[in-house]
Amino acid sequence: MSCATESHAYVIFGATGNLATVKLLPALYQLHCLGYLAADVKILGCGRTPHQRDDWRDQVRKMLASGTNAGSCLEGFFQRLDYLAGSLEDAAFYQALGTWIGTGECARNVIFYLSVSPELYVRVTMGLAQAGLLAERNGWRRMVVEKPFGHDLQSARDLQHELKAHLSEEQIYRIDHYVGKESVQNLLVLRFANMILEPLWNRHYIDHVQITHAETVGVDGRASYYDRHGGAARDMIQSHLLQVLALLAMEPPVSLEAESLRDEKVKVLRSIRPVDVSQLASHAVRAQYAGYQMEAGIAPGSHTETYAALKLYVDNWRWRDVPFYLRTGKSLKERRSMVAVRFREPPMQLFQGTGAAIVHPNWLLIGIQPDDVVQMEISAKVPGAETRTRQIVMDASVGNPGERKADAYEELLLDVIEGNRALFLRYDEVKAAWSIVDPVMRAWADDEHPPLQYPVGSLGPKAANQIFDQADQEWRQTLGCNGKADGKS
Ligand SMILES: NC(=O)c1ccc[n+]([C@@H]2O[C@H](COP(=O)([O-])OP(=O)(O)OC[C@H]3O[C@@H](n4cnc5c(N)ncnc54)[C@H](OP(=O)(O)O)[C@@H]3O)[C@@H](O)[C@H]2O)c1
Repeated sequence: MSCATESHAYVIFGATGNLATVKLLPALYQLHCLGYLAADVKILGCGRTPHQRDDWRDQVRKMLASGTNAGSCLEGFFQRLDYLAGSLEDAAFYQALGTWIGTGECARNVIFYLSVSPELYVRVTMGLAQAGLLAERNGWRRMVVEKPFGHDLQSARDLQHELKAHLSEEQIYRIDHYVGKESVQNLLVLRFANMILEPLWNRHYIDHVQITHAETVGVDGRASYYDRHGGAARDMIQSHLLQVLALLAMEPPVSLEAESLRDEKVKVLRSIRPVDVSQLASHAVRAQYAGYQMEAGIAPGSHTETYAALKLYVDNWRWRDVPFYLRTGKSLKERRSMVAVRFREPPMQLFQGTGAAIVHPNWLLIGIQPDDVVQMEISAKVPGAETRTRQIVMDASVGNPGERKADAYEELLLDVIEGNRALFLRYDEVKAAWSIVDPVMRAWADDEHPPLQYPVGSLGPKAANQIFDQADQEWRQTLGCNGKADGKS
């Protein structure tokens, strides 16, 4: 009997849910169209909804056909799709799954994707283990665990304990899709494929670093889940923003191999000075957008923050005393994620008294979304007889017109197939990230005062400025704009 040893199956638990519909299936479809999936790769959607295979295929067809990426490869993609209905809390489901996967010599390599509520992660892992589906006898078995990995340090430890009982670390792929964004990976390329930044990339030249993730949307559709399990610090800072910080601050890895990269990220996270909760107001700010409490699904008097700002220090040789300011919020004025690095001022103000009295500091601005750009803001002379300066921006778009940008999930789902764990989080990384945020979240939970409020569509609470170390530091709201003159002599 022959069987394709390299064949594999993508099993998606929660295939009828939001993440699978909006991200995972479109990403697998793109991988199919681009020829990354071997001919015998099968995709099994699992959900509670009692679809027949063809009903589900029709639903996926409609969803893909309505997207901009619909193309001529739809039919081939549908041949890969199958559906298995059942409750993940029911042992019979795992028996049926085992039958689908096959046994003995022809057992497939399998990726199990946990696109379900975190409360089910342990139940599913145990169900798979009890049915013998995690054992790597004839092929590999990989498990993708969606964020959040725990809701605090202790629950992350507990989850890890349960997963470890049935899976090796090599089998676990803890996903943080932010790290899969091209613009976030570009941080590594900018830092380590160029020589011009490295000599300046330290406490001697950098005044501070800002990392921003701002959303215009509120908690629509996820209100009750967000109110119970979310909060801006937990939802965004612990995961996405600390990952960005780690990529910005890490030392050059020995190679791009998974463990080298993750070793360096962990070192940075472990070097972060614990936030002094006795001085919390000067290190962290939380707020809620006005009207949050009125949304359906929000607990009356909820203190869940929809905005959080945090000041962190990386206590190592390179970064000692350079503040890293992180902020994220919902229902803000503008959707924007960016990194803003402010450089120190020159040691002498040569142009003082010439009319160019205000010499602005240099900024390196890295747009993550919606603009994938790299900008350098520098001072230049305004043409003319007088000495006047203005800020000009060296502005480069990362992509060329017409170039297709891959969605983060495309790259990450392909990495799982290829067994490349570099962009997935190791447990010690997750633990270190929780250790940073956990004391702040606990202090907020113990605080009987309600969070500050900020108007919908604003820049966030004014009090977010109170975490700055210096009077001349302020939040960078936009990317650079050319040609602001500083005055005349
Ligand atoms: N949505 C996002 O953009 C996003 C982003 C980052 C991370 N995540 C994470 O991804 C995971 C999924 O999120 P989501 O937004 O897709 O959730 P969702 O829309 O609520 O979908 C949940 C899925 O789980 C299935 N399910 C629930 N209980 C089940 C059970 N007992 N047995 C079998 N299936 C069950 C549901 O099946 P039925 O519908 O058929 O009942 C549905 O397919 C969560 O861990 C979330 O934190 C989501």
